[in-house]
Parts: sequence; structure tokens; C-alpha cells
Amino acid sequence: MEEAEQRHPFLEGLSRHRGAPPTLLVIFGASGDLTARKLVPALYNLALDSLLPADFRLMGFGRKEIPDEQFRTDARASITEFSRRPLEEDVWKDVEGGLYYHQGAYDDPEAYAALAKRIAQMEKEAGHGLQLVFYISTPPGVFEPIVENLGDCGLARHEVKGQTAAKVIIEKPFGHDLASAKQLNEVIVRNFDEGQVYRIDHYLGKETVQNLLVARFANAIFEPIWNREYVDSVQITVAESVGVEGRGGYYDESGALRDMIQNHTMQLLSLIAMEPPVSLAPEGIRDEKVKVLKAVQPLVLHPPEQGDVVRARYKEGLMEGKRVPGYLQEEGIPNDSTTETYAALRLNINNWRWQGVPFYLRSGKRMPRRVSEIAIQFKRPPGILFTGSRRFDVEQNTLVIQVQPDEGMTLLTNSKVPGLETRTQPVKMHFRYATTFGSNTPEAYERLILDAIIGDSTLFIRGDETEASWQLITPVLEAWRDHGQRGLAEYAAGSWGPLESERLLWASGHEWRKAGV
Ligand code: BG6
Repeated sequence: MEEAEQRHPFLEGLSRHRGAPPTLLVIFGASGDLTARKLVPALYNLALDSLLPADFRLMGFGRKEIPDEQFRTDARASITEFSRRPLEEDVWKDVEGGLYYHQGAYDDPEAYAALAKRIAQMEKEAGHGLQLVFYISTPPGVFEPIVENLGDCGLARHEVKGQTAAKVIIEKPFGHDLASAKQLNEVIVRNFDEGQVYRIDHYLGKETVQNLLVARFANAIFEPIWNREYVDSVQITVAESVGVEGRGGYYDESGALRDMIQNHTMQLLSLIAMEPPVSLAPEGIRDEKVKVLKAVQPLVLHPPEQGDVVRARYKEGLMEGKRVPGYLQEEGIPNDSTTETYAALRLNINNWRWQGVPFYLRSGKRMPRRVSEIAIQFKRPPGILFTGSRRFDVEQNTLVIQVQPDEGMTLLTNSKVPGLETRTQPVKMHFRYATTFGSNTPEAYERLILDAIIGDSTLFIRGDETEASWQLITPVLEAWRDHGQRGLAEYAAGSWGPLESERLLWASGHEWRKAGV
């Protein structure tokens, strides 16, 4: 145990996680991409740090016929390819023995009856009960039948020593609009209690996102100026350099607003804008996040060219000297697609702290680089001293929180340039995770799976939270659907988005920062 801690200084303080009960994690969608790239490697890394319960088992559930042996071989291959740390034979041996696969159709009650039987047999052989964690990572069309079947076969109410010992983790997308999210919530709470439900937004598992709460509430210097008196605007950028990467079918149904804005960027927004919670208990934090989302004013949509939202899709362009095709040329994208690969929004949070401070959000594919950051731009000082001369280069103070990839925080201030005359120049103070803590940070899924196993729902989305976010986004989706191609701008792959997005900010006297620099 000691050795594991030494290997990983970040995990100090997480020792309470070791008290997790014997657990069986059942992954629905076990042969999917997420399982191979993220879930299995995350579990392996938890095992490597001795953070899994002593009796931990993983069962893949899927339509394909896969013998247990093959499932183990596939798991080993995905660890070898995707784990952040190399496979160690002795740890793998422990992990391997607890891997199983169960074949069945997601809507077939018999498959669930057989699953329940198999679990009962496992418990009998182990001589103790198992907490059941169901991880739903399938295409969204089968979320509801899975939840209903878990309810019908009794596994949703599985008990160990008279206590409910079943949980369900639900991957995104959680609905595709407000009505479908509400319907999914209804199905879930008919079969599970809200306290058993863990809705995933993997951004909440990122170290830098968790650090937002610490940065804001463990420091005394930010909170007094974190409001409309001092903050001029806030910019949240979640940019990706990749295109749709063979996920054309999914992406074209989704688009940037659903895929990134409704969930990931809105989560960043609520953590940045929320009031201090009464405690760090899950409900304290989630209550405050929901309050922020409810205070966001409905977006102005008409006419499409002058509202609070901009949408665009990439056309052919140059990236790192290579020509890359436009969105319509990507595999699986219909010629008459109106799906946006870029969205930018101007939000107004109507509460005492933020009224009048624009929050700008943008996210897009095929941007010049992968970068997620939050920039808090503070108001300018009164312009009486350092203006009116080329000797004074004075910029707005800006606090930039780099979420990824170069995790850290930068504060931009103005300084005197050394010399005999008074000249000013903006300078930056940097804090970098990699420099201070080393670079082998746990992946988001490690933290999230572990939290679900031990029952900490802080980093998961509550039902009312997801509905509040959809409430804001759904009218935009409906308007875009009605507008068809009208108002759908274009940007060259490898650029920072369309001119319309620049105009969105110019209209209120701002401009996008150069993200990631
Ligand atoms: C997913 C989206 O939720 O997040 C993808 O579906 C996107 O389209 C991904 O690429 C980005 O995640 P990360 O962690 O790489 O920023």
C-alpha cells in the first residue's frame, strides 16, 4: 500500500476510498470504444494504486458473443494501448481473475434474469454480497430499456445486508433536448432513487475542473473581486483540433451545442459562477450549480444574425501544413447536413453577483489547437494615470484557468519595464501543474468511477441540473432546426471560427482572447 502511495503523490488524502465494499461493476456497451479507451484503463490504474475494493469484479454486458477469455484478452490489449501507465504483470494477474462477460440483448428480459442468476451465484461462491454498479455506456437509444429491465428483474433494488446496494452510472448524451431528458429522468427515478444515480460529465473528473472549487474557495483573494463590480467578462473556450474522427453518424445527430456546450462548457460555467456552497457535501455544491443555470437568461435568437448565438461548420482548410477536408466531406455526413461543428454563445446571468457581465462560451472542432480554458477578464483601472502615451501598454487584468492540455493558471498584470523612464508592459504569472506536481495526473474516469463506487456524487450531474441546462439550450436547437441552412456560418478548418463569432463579442465591446497562449 505504501509503495502505491509513493508512486502517486496526488492520491494522498484519498485513503478513505479504500473502504469501498466488494463490488461488481457491470458495463453495458462493453465492446464499445469508451470501454476500451477509457473505462478499462481507468480501472486498471485504480488497481495499480490499490484503490479498488479487495473483491472487485468487472462484467462486460453486450450483444456480441464474447467468451470470458476473449474479454480478458481484449481488456489486456486496451490497457496496453491506452493506459497512462504501463501494464504490470502482477497487478494484471489480480485484475484478470475478476473479469467476466455476459452476452445479451439490451431489451431482452431473459438476459437480465440470467444476469441476476449469475450474480447470485457469484455472491454465493464469494460468501459475501456484492455492491452492483451498472455503467450504461451504450448508444442512447437503449438507455431506457436497460434501466427498465434492471428495475423489472430486481437488480436495481439489489440489497446487501438489508441495505440497497445498487447504483447506475449513465454516460452522455443524457437526452437530446429538454423533453427527452425529462423522459429519461422519469424512467430512471421509476426504477432507482436519485441517490443511486450517477450521471456522467467527464469534465467534472478532470483535475483542473475540480480545482476550480479549491481555487475559488480555498483562497481569500479571489472571492471579493469575483463579481460584477470587478469582472468585465468571462470567456470559456473548449476547442479541439480533431474533426469528427469516424463518429460522423453520432456527431451529425448531435452537433457542437449538444455534444460540448450543453454539458461540458455549462459545467465549467456553473462552477465559475456559483455562490460558495454551504459545505463540500454533494448536495450543497449541486444546489448552487443549479441556481446558476436557472439564473441564466433565455438566449436572444432573432434574427439569427444578431442574437446571442452563432453556429458554424468547418470547411476545407490547412492544419499544420496539411490540407484537411471540410465537414461535409467527412465519412457518414449527409450532403444536406445543417449540423454545427462550432457554437458560440453570449450568456447573461441575472443575479446579484453577475448581472450585466457577459459570459462567452465557444466550442468547436478543427480549431488550430486543442485547448480548454476559462478567462476571467477584470475591468480596466480608471484611465487617469497610465494612458495617452505609447509608453504605457496596459491590458485588462486577466485570470486564465487552463483546463487542458497545459493545465495551470496564469494571471496577467501590468508591470513597469525596468529602466530610467516609466514604461509599462503586460506580464504573466504562471502556475503549471506539471512543474509543481509532475505530469502523471489521474484520468477523469479514474476519479469518477472510484467516486461512484464509494458513493460520492459531487462530481456527477443531478437530474434537475441536466434539465436546467437543456431548458436553456433547447430553444436554440429548435430555432436552428427551423432556420435550416440560414445563419449557419462557415470557417476554415484550422481557424478560430467564423467572423460572426468575432462580431458576437465586438457587439458588446469585447474580443476573443487568443486561447492557449
Ligand atoms: C466528448 C465529446 O464528450 O468530449 C467528443 O463527445 C469530444 O466529441 C470529447 O471530443 C472531448 O473530451 P476531452 O476530454 O478530450 O476534452
